[in-house]
Amino acid sequence: MTITPVQDTPQWQALDAHFREMRDVHLRDLFARSPDRAERFTVEGAGVILDYSKNRVTEETLDLLLTLAEERGLRERIDAMFRGDHINVTEDRAVLHTALRLPADAELKVDGEDVVAEVHGVLDRMAVFADQVRSGDWTGHTGRRIRNVINIGIGGSDLGPSMAYTALRDYSERSMTFQFVSNVDATDFAEAVRGLDPAETLFVISSKTFTTLETLTNAHTARDWLVGALGDEAAVAKHFVAVSTNAEKVSEFGIDTDNMFEFWDWVGGRYSYPSAIGLSLMVAIGPDRFREMLEGFHAMDEHFRTTPFDRNLPVLLGLIGIWYDDFFGAETVAVLPYDQYLERFSAYLQQLDMESDGKHVDLDGKPVGVQTGPIVWGQPGTNGQHAFYQLIHQGTKLIPCDFIGFLETLNPLGDHHDLLMANMFAQTEALAFGRDAPEPYRVTKGNQPTNTILCRRLDPRTLGALVALYEHKVFTQGTVWGIDSFDQWGVELGKELARKIIPELQAEEEPELAHDSSTNALIRRYREARGK
Ligand code: F6P
Repeated sequence: MTITPVQDTPQWQALDAHFREMRDVHLRDLFARSPDRAERFTVEGAGVILDYSKNRVTEETLDLLLTLAEERGLRERIDAMFRGDHINVTEDRAVLHTALRLPADAELKVDGEDVVAEVHGVLDRMAVFADQVRSGDWTGHTGRRIRNVINIGIGGSDLGPSMAYTALRDYSERSMTFQFVSNVDATDFAEAVRGLDPAETLFVISSKTFTTLETLTNAHTARDWLVGALGDEAAVAKHFVAVSTNAEKVSEFGIDTDNMFEFWDWVGGRYSYPSAIGLSLMVAIGPDRFREMLEGFHAMDEHFRTTPFDRNLPVLLGLIGIWYDDFFGAETVAVLPYDQYLERFSAYLQQLDMESDGKHVDLDGKPVGVQTGPIVWGQPGTNGQHAFYQLIHQGTKLIPCDFIGFLETLNPLGDHHDLLMANMFAQTEALAFGRDAPEPYRVTKGNQPTNTILCRRLDPRTLGALVALYEHKVFTQGTVWGIDSFDQWGVELGKELARKIIPELQAEEEPELAHDSSTNALIRRYREARGK
């Protein structure tokens, strides 16, 4: 395929010219000019309201951005993704996380396979298993009921389920504990199992490839811990289940494939938690709630697929992001949920966005030539207000922010929710309009752009819609830049080098080191400290 570099398109050049007119325009003026700005720049879809009026855009900016999206073939790319075309070109794979949330009566055949039947077949098996564990019908090796579930996985096999479990904790089975072990640092495992009874503990080993160093290491340690305590290798059968695309490796590890929940290579790791990767979440919240979450995902998928771009939430979020990333030179996006249950949301989005759009070549393998994915970060308000907001208000950088809030709280205690939301609204107002003052140190210039994302209540449906909103935002941006948002070759080099260094750290004899002088010295220092 041959893709025109985005900066060579007339639409990009028109945006560049327009940027020169816009760069010093203040949000104060934009609001003063049009009293109905908020109304005009607010859209709603799949239960999510997006007020994007506090952005440094005019109707002309939006028209130019929307034309750019059309020109970059966003419509065709959306259709291609939902249809199952192999749009992940470097891995020659379909990208079908949207199929994970299709209703059972939908139809989708990809490469000759009835994808919907397969998806619902696995969902039904997951539901049976989740119900058995929740009801106590699934017992451990000694006949005791399972009270602790530990998901072992990393990246997409951890961040999704752990973020969603935290987000939906209010809906979870409170008589059980749920933990997520990811780091190869043994502390993660050791602290997770501290005080737990192995006879009541179930491990869900989640790994798409079932070859990931961290996950396999933790899984072996978990098996040793369990078998050591229960004194019987046969205990593995009742205390370990696997979620993977790789049945062979699962059996090699010693988990019966009857206790394996499968997914497919057309589900990218960071897009996988609505698949069987969400098994521990399903045990926590139950199959009905899990299905509600899938409905929320699907509602946003349909909104993205069918809504004209000028009212399409992921498209607008994506294009506005490009406006700052590429024209204003903003390097980051802060995601600031005003809900404690969303404390893992920005960590989740970091992988989703940065692993997807952190790319330097386009679909033809040529240098992209413009800035691609932003650095995503954030933490819940109001905590962040007392930490890093100072820099957003008065620092020298432009930091676009997404504020996410809910009209109703799940914990209605006193007036906490009014205070929380008053703070959220106040922040977007202060960031946009700032304050003049005689003393320079008091001046807050304002003109810091924000999106406000409002939903009624944090429930499974809403969470699904919010996650899909960001998935499709990332896709929109990747499409405009002309990159492959679904591979992650950049993580390979570090993995390979670590594989080489492991034996160098462990060898009894002094190894011959052929790294650079810094890496060689670090390895030697470590070996020395370990008495080698
Ligand atoms: O190293 C990156 C990555 O490949 C992610 O894309 C993926 O989510 C994670 O590792 C875990 O991979 P797996 O599910 O195969 O263990």
